[in-house]
Amino acid sequence: MLDLQKIRADFPILTQKVNGKPLVYFDNGATAQKPQVVLDAITKYYSEINANIHRGVHTLSQWATDAYEESRGKIQKHLNAKHAHEIIFTAGTTHGINAVANGFAALLQPGDEILVSAMEHHSNIVPWQMLCERTGAVLKVIPMNEKGELIRSEYEVLLSEKTKIVTVNHISNALGTINPVDYIIQKAHEVGAAVLIDGAQATPHLKPDVQALDCDFYVFSGHKVCGPTGTGILYGKEAWLNKLPPYQGGGEMIATVSFEKTTYADLPHKFEAGTPNIAGGIVLGTAIDYLNEIGFEAIAAYEHELLAYATQKLEQIEGLRIIGTAEHKTSVISFNVGNIHPYDIGTIVDKLGIAVRTGHHCAQPVMDFFGVPGTVRASFAFYNTKEEIDIFVEALQKAVMMLS
Ligand code: ALA
Repeated sequence: MLDLQKIRADFPILTQKVNGKPLVYFDNGATAQKPQVVLDAITKYYSEINANIHRGVHTLSQWATDAYEESRGKIQKHLNAKHAHEIIFTAGTTHGINAVANGFAALLQPGDEILVSAMEHHSNIVPWQMLCERTGAVLKVIPMNEKGELIRSEYEVLLSEKTKIVTVNHISNALGTINPVDYIIQKAHEVGAAVLIDGAQATPHLKPDVQALDCDFYVFSGHKVCGPTGTGILYGKEAWLNKLPPYQGGGEMIATVSFEKTTYADLPHKFEAGTPNIAGGIVLGTAIDYLNEIGFEAIAAYEHELLAYATQKLEQIEGLRIIGTAEHKTSVISFNVGNIHPYDIGTIVDKLGIAVRTGHHCAQPVMDFFGVPGTVRASFAFYNTKEEIDIFVEALQKAVMMLS
């Protein structure tokens, strides 16, 4: 059981009024709000510790380095990675995917195949298309059914010794589908393909165990797990990270540099060129601690309750069609009402203090599959309440009446 009153008090923004109404924040799929401990940790870093890391002999630099590496250790533990140096700090999920895709350019031959799923975010499509253009590799798509679930039999047909990497999201941002990533990974490994899991939408809701999953890469964004924007993690198995060339060149990622030849630093530094987002990296550890203190089992159980409650309420609205009805779903509901444009609904409910996302959600192929230009998406976090869902449903009914 979550202590909702206590949790909500941790988030100063939730007391905010928007357009004269109490904020109802249902755009958690886009970014999560920040608890006071995260805000305090940012201030503490800049007011007490700020210095560059891994560089200075002076005390402040040592403190900053220790805090940064301590955070890496927290994330290692959180993901159950074998080594701390398998945890690479990035600017976010997109950065992590691009780093891996770029590294694969050195490993692919023309005709090699990359599998993505039909429900990927653009960030897990475009970097692979760019890689195909560079290498002559071929992008193949694992299809989904009308509920928004991947079709296992078709996936198994697509897999072959030509498949070099399979890259799928753990949870779809547009549909809420929780993908069977353990099965996907196991099947890909049977043909010798690597697997990258895009955990951007999963990490706010569950605690991935990268060793149990046996994934080769797992990426996520800090800002969706109550951490700062511009932070993220690329987990990679040690052997893979050693095999891939670095994504960016610069300071910190080298062992030796001369004009004739440069050798690269050991992991994780090989993938961390330049001065990183030091405060962000440290504070991401604070955010992960905060979520673990609440507990992911309790978070998932409560969010599931919110999902069931909202689904049942929304289904009572005439003409409302939920897009994404997978058996295994997280607390994301994408929908349309009749022919009303999602943007119009989003604009009206915003006037009533409610934040939802409207549009294609950076997943245009998903929208094309369902034959819609976009959807309204309500995505719930552990700090949302059933009362807020009631306010949203009432506002939605008003909007529908005005727009019909
Ligand atoms: N990928 C984020 C979303 O789904 C921005 O809203």
